[in-house]
Amino acid sequence: MIDKSLIKKRFSKSLKTYEDNAVIQKEMAEKLVKLLPDKFYGDVLEAGCATGVLTRKLTEQKIKYNNYYANDIVEKSKNYIEKLIPSSVFIHGDIENITLDKKFDLIISNACIQWCNSPSNVIESLHNALKDNGIFAFTTFADKNLYEISEIFQIQTQYTPLEQLKQCINKYNPLYFIEEEKRIYFNSATQILKHLKYTGVNSVTEYRLTKSKLQDIEQKFSVKFNKDGKVFITYNPVYVVIKKTIY
Ligand SMILES: C[S@@+](CC[C@H](N)C(=O)[O-])C[C@H]1O[C@@H](n2cnc3c(N)ncnc32)[C@H](O)[C@@H]1O
Repeated sequence: MIDKSLIKKRFSKSLKTYEDNAVIQKEMAEKLVKLLPDKFYGDVLEAGCATGVLTRKLTEQKIKYNNYYANDIVEKSKNYIEKLIPSSVFIHGDIENITLDKKFDLIISNACIQWCNSPSNVIESLHNALKDNGIFAFTTFADKNLYEISEIFQIQTQYTPLEQLKQCINKYNPLYFIEEEKRIYFNSATQILKHLKYTGVNSVTEYRLTKSKLQDIEQKFSVKFNKDGKVFITYNPVYVVIKKTIY
């Protein structure tokens, strides 16, 4: 089970550092918006909006709407989104358990659904919250995501296996299902751990690092996950766009 209070605590703490460090999430948001089939949507819901990386990309790429509803489990996100869209309505809460009392023309979400206990149930309930012909566009991560971290820390990460994701999405007849692997390089493992902390990605487990443990991690990274003197981690984004078609 995912510890939601830990998620809240970590993401709340990382809000200030998120934008400067979320390189991959920014690229994902940009690509996701480019995959949208239309330029105008009436009612839009964004799940897991954080500081508004995706919100801003929608504006930059000239996506228009009538009403913008933004959700996050961290209440402080509201302050960021209100600055970007003063007319927006903030829906605070866990997207996995929230009751939505309206339907949407576009539901969009970047790098959030993997923090839910059952991504497939969330996908289903958000799909149900679409109007007919509505669009559900989201990104998440498949199981190669940060495999270096799971290997070195000997932890099982929460990312859904790619095949399982594919199976879950196929029943919606997606317009797009795209998987990618994106590697980023750092000068040290310490920098990698900071990067994860600053983006809130260290949200599922609590761990304490002693000096000797840190040395051990540096050593393991430099032996196993190193190229041209740099160490790396891999992100495994998945992009999905679904149109709710009623036959
Ligand atoms: C990696 S950030 C992505 C933020 C943003 N979508 C972007 O494009 O950069 C994930 C966000 O999802 C939120 N989140 C995680 N689990 C959630 C849940 N169950 N319900 C709502 N928001 C959640 C976190 O608080 C965080 O703000």
